[in-house]
Amino acid sequence: MSAAGSLDLKVYRDADQLAAKAAVAVARAAAESIRHRGRFTLVLSGGSTPRKTYALLAEGDGETNVDWSRAYLFFGDERHVPHDDERSNYGMARESLLSVAPIPSEQVLPIPTGLPTAEACAEAYSTALAKFFALPSGTMPIFDLVLLGLGDDGHTASLFPGAEALGVDDRIATWSPPGTLPPPVDRITLTYPAINAAREVLFLVAGENKAEAVQDVLEGGADKQRRPAAGVRPEAGRLMWMLDEAAAGRLKNSG
Ligand code: 6PG
Repeated sequence: MSAAGSLDLKVYRDADQLAAKAAVAVARAAAESIRHRGRFTLVLSGGSTPRKTYALLAEGDGETNVDWSRAYLFFGDERHVPHDDERSNYGMARESLLSVAPIPSEQVLPIPTGLPTAEACAEAYSTALAKFFALPSGTMPIFDLVLLGLGDDGHTASLFPGAEALGVDDRIATWSPPGTLPPPVDRITLTYPAINAAREVLFLVAGENKAEAVQDVLEGGADKQRRPAAGVRPEAGRLMWMLDEAAAGRLKNSG
């Protein structure tokens, strides 16, 4: 899908097939971005679902090969914990991808978590992104690809139901108190404008526990306050959902 409104949805047998196809999709996006713009700016999602995809990208054989010398990696959200904490999204990416693939460390921009508050970390990340993309004040970065997950409450990144962060539209990143799902720590997250400015947004969702939220967002017309993933509507970019059959189990039209 490229036109706003139509939905690009792919359903795979299980989480392993989803991970394999997602790695191919990321590698293809990388090749296209590098061909057209000389670099690939990729936002990694957290949680557990993408771990297999990152490990396949780190192996990089055949269709999952990426020219990491041209890739720049960012994070969609982070927990306000040290990067070596087991709850850290950066820590998961480092284990599965960053410590394996030949990615120049200066081309990875983790969300800083060492400042006293998540709010200060979010401000620091917004500043770092504005500097990296040499942004005029008040404008958003245009990432080539943003990977997102979905919580079973319909949250994405760290945009939680009913949170103030859902209404932040003048910053690249903001902070949020914990949602109802673990871990109960403050978060830093990209805002809707930063996500929706992307050239492509790809949701990777697996598991029966996500099926109700998936159906609500994709077919139920849920509003973003109740199911924040519904607020991901790239202005000009492509929106794609890659699901396993379990997560797609309640969809009426899953192709
Ligand atoms: C986080 C993630 C979050 C995640 C969903 C799904 O920090 O937890 O960024 O948005 O993508 O909660 O998590 P799972 O993949 O673990 O189900």
